[in-house]
Amino acid sequence: MNAPHTEPFLTLQEIIAAARRNLAPGPWSYLIGGAETETTVRRNRQALDSIAFRPRVLRDVSRIDSSADFFGRKVRLPVMLAPIGGLESIVEGGAAAAARGAAQFGVPQILSSVCQPGLEATAAAADTVRVFQLYVRGDDAWVDDHVKRALAHGYAAFCLTVDVAMYSRRERDLVGRFVKPWRATAPAGSNFQSGLSWDQVKRFKDKHSVPLILKGIATAEDAEIAVQHGVEVVYVSNHGGRQLDHGLGSAAVLPPIVAAVGGRAEVWVDGGFMRGTDIVKAIALGAHAVGLGRLPCLGLAAAGVPGLVRALEILENEIQTCLGLLGVASFAGLTSHHVAAAPPVGEAGVFGAFPLLGEPPHG
Ligand SMILES: Cc1cc2nc3c(=O)[nH]c(=O)nc-3n(C[C@H](O)[C@H](O)[C@H](O)COP(=O)(O)O)c2cc1C
Repeated sequence: MNAPHTEPFLTLQEIIAAARRNLAPGPWSYLIGGAETETTVRRNRQALDSIAFRPRVLRDVSRIDSSADFFGRKVRLPVMLAPIGGLESIVEGGAAAAARGAAQFGVPQILSSVCQPGLEATAAAADTVRVFQLYVRGDDAWVDDHVKRALAHGYAAFCLTVDVAMYSRRERDLVGRFVKPWRATAPAGSNFQSGLSWDQVKRFKDKHSVPLILKGIATAEDAEIAVQHGVEVVYVSNHGGRQLDHGLGSAAVLPPIVAAVGGRAEVWVDGGFMRGTDIVKAIALGAHAVGLGRLPCLGLAAAGVPGLVRALEILENEIQTCLGLLGVASFAGLTSHHVAAAPPVGEAGVFGAFPLLGEPPHG
């Protein structure tokens, strides 16, 4: 697993091909799959492909700054590693490896509560800008205990994932009989997850002052309720198409949510963001930051920590190329006038952003 590469990857396509070679069928399907028909997965890509750029020319772009701020700290790109459960089945060291890559490159990591080696050991692995993401599988005291531990270990914010009232049917996993080790041994708690309501969000905000992110908001209506509850971040996500099937693409629901939030909270987004141009589109549409789910995992699977760092370097290169060709020297100069609706071109699969690749053979 994660064999060292002998020459640097020049494209993201090569990284994905290497990840495919390295991963066994079970973890591969777990990583790339979505729910049921995988329509939401494809719509994530299609929504991004339905946005085109309107470049402006003859602006001085000889020096491009693609850095961003994240809870008051400067980060190298407006992206973060989205929370991934079971990373230990994709790369040796699991979340600790991801933390090292995130720290080395200079972007934040959101740690999943269902990822080894856990909250404390991941924090100790590297000096990252970090956020803790919790699946609520216990009572209020259980949640409070996690907040306490996260704060004690330098996590800058707390994230509740709210699009998991039911665990979806991931058919690649079912067909492959892939039993996720962390689900086989996970303590019971799904009742808490399906019983979660806005009451607990209110209780959380009344009790804790740590910035709160709600991950999995997919409508302007829920974004409005989230803002009314005082959340600091509305995180637009459909879980990478892994939960509700037949949802809209994240990039399609972003503009109405940005409008509904109206600057009262930050808006983050994820779902299908694989390319530098994808990130630029999100920021042009008003997102503050973009979560990367599968892409960092593919980097880690391709070549461990250096593979993740290389994927982020290529992404940065793509972002800077895009900004320069749009005629803006930093994200501050980017506006919704730089994008326009356009008919999508090409395949809308999970690897639709990589035409040279096609979907690598499965299983
Ligand atoms: C293998 C895998 C595991 C995931 N585990 C979690 C998790 O533990 N918690 C969570 O909130 N989201 C989880 N997600 C969803 C991601 O955080 C993110 O929302 C999604 O992957 C973004 O879409 P993308 O993969 O197209 O970038 C997971 C996604 C993948 C691919």
